[in-house]
Amino acid sequence: MANLEVEFCGLKFKNPVVVASIETTNSPEVIRECVDAGAGGMIIKTLTDIEDMARLTQNSKYAILNEKNELIKGKVNKNFVFFSRSGYSSTHYKEWVPYLKELRQYAEDHGSHLIGSAGGKTVQSWVDICRTIEDAGIKLIELNFGCPHPAMMPGVHGGSMIGQDPRVAAEVTRAVVEAVDIPIFIKLTPDQSKPVEVARAVMEAGAAAVTATNRHTGFVVDIETGRPRLAGPAGIGGTWAKPLSLRWVHKIFTELGVPISGSNGIYDHKDIVEFIMTGASTVQIGSVLMLKGIKYLSKVIRGLEEFMDSHGYPDIQSMLGIASRHSVRDYSEQFRKPRMHSEVNVESCRNPKCTICIQTCFYDALAQADGVVGMLHKNCIGCEMCTNTCPFDSMKMHTTSEEQRQSGEFFRIPEAVFEAGKFEKGFERGIKLSRALD
Ligand SMILES: Cc1cc2nc3c(=O)[nH]c(=O)nc-3n(C[C@H](O)[C@H](O)[C@H](O)COP(=O)(O)O)c2cc1C
Repeated sequence: MANLEVEFCGLKFKNPVVVASIETTNSPEVIRECVDAGAGGMIIKTLTDIEDMARLTQNSKYAILNEKNELIKGKVNKNFVFFSRSGYSSTHYKEWVPYLKELRQYAEDHGSHLIGSAGGKTVQSWVDICRTIEDAGIKLIELNFGCPHPAMMPGVHGGSMIGQDPRVAAEVTRAVVEAVDIPIFIKLTPDQSKPVEVARAVMEAGAAAVTATNRHTGFVVDIETGRPRLAGPAGIGGTWAKPLSLRWVHKIFTELGVPISGSNGIYDHKDIVEFIMTGASTVQIGSVLMLKGIKYLSKVIRGLEEFMDSHGYPDIQSMLGIASRHSVRDYSEQFRKPRMHSEVNVESCRNPKCTICIQTCFYDALAQADGVVGMLHKNCIGCEMCTNTCPFDSMKMHTTSEEQRQSGEFFRIPEAVFEAGKFEKGFERGIKLSRALD
């Protein structure tokens, strides 16, 4: 059986599935349920001294939408959109102290970890909250530099406002790291263009890892009433956001090589596998548990174990970052790959009933020809669209041989367009040009 254990920030987790800081972890009872359901860890809902962020949670609004932008009344599926407005922990951080001690013990007795989360009013408050969490025996704290809501709360400075500024993010991180002895990791915001710079700044300031990422800010319109849902902007997430989060996991993993906790876009174990294969050692599961209940957590962990067994992955390390390692570094590598073209398998093709490949070929390489799909290789640029849209797996990609390239029958990239080798020269020319302009 696969070994799900993983090391993160110096702690051993029995599995990489960690319950995110969210409404679920705003209650001691539910945190205990998460431990019972087998969570590797639970991150407590962000502890704070900002009264308005606590009040905001008591004033929460949630709308769950389907892919057609309609409210979901009933069971959610993988396409759910979670649009919501809420704050941090609904009670002052000091009121949590007795629970922190008790829950930490309960978690440890079951091989799990209670993880702190902080969001303070001033630099000193960040320090005070984290010291309080450490004094309760907690061994790891996440700093919430990703929450979208403080930016929309007059008079409050926190969350994504800090996470958008590498200098401020580093200052808060440094102050906390110097004040406590336990590792600190930073939850980043995707509401910006430079999370890698922020990640670099906080790692240099002493963070042990980063979380990529918290949620985006969205605006959703109900076209029947002509009004915004939930009265205006709010936090938004769902599995649609997963590729956007993975983009940052991939970039941080390849450019910084630091430990990452993945978040934003989880529905089931397959999403967790994607985050691990991109480079996240632990993965946080959030909103789906609010919709499906805590029992669903055991199903996700079981699903992960079954996936690893059926695909021959003996442990988490064997999956960690494998997709990122196989990724092209940039588009110049794409240019160096051999050219390809598609071929149709007329046996399995359902033309003329189906014409999807012809419809989606933007290069006039496919056409209707006496009840079968005709190919004009000269026009096929090897874009893979037909292979990826054919419902009958009747289009296959083939490497264009040198002989075929020379025959004049197959597509040749026109002169002056970057081709293998030329790209590098063009790139050098670009650098020289930009230097000359400086
Ligand atoms: C209703 C709600 C409340 C949240 N509260 C917090 C919070 O207090 N602190 C925090 O760091 N993240 C908070 N988050 C973000 C989640 O921890 C998580 O990063 C996000 O939901 C993305 O994960 P998911 O796609 O699994 O839901 C909240 C998210 C939601 C939907």
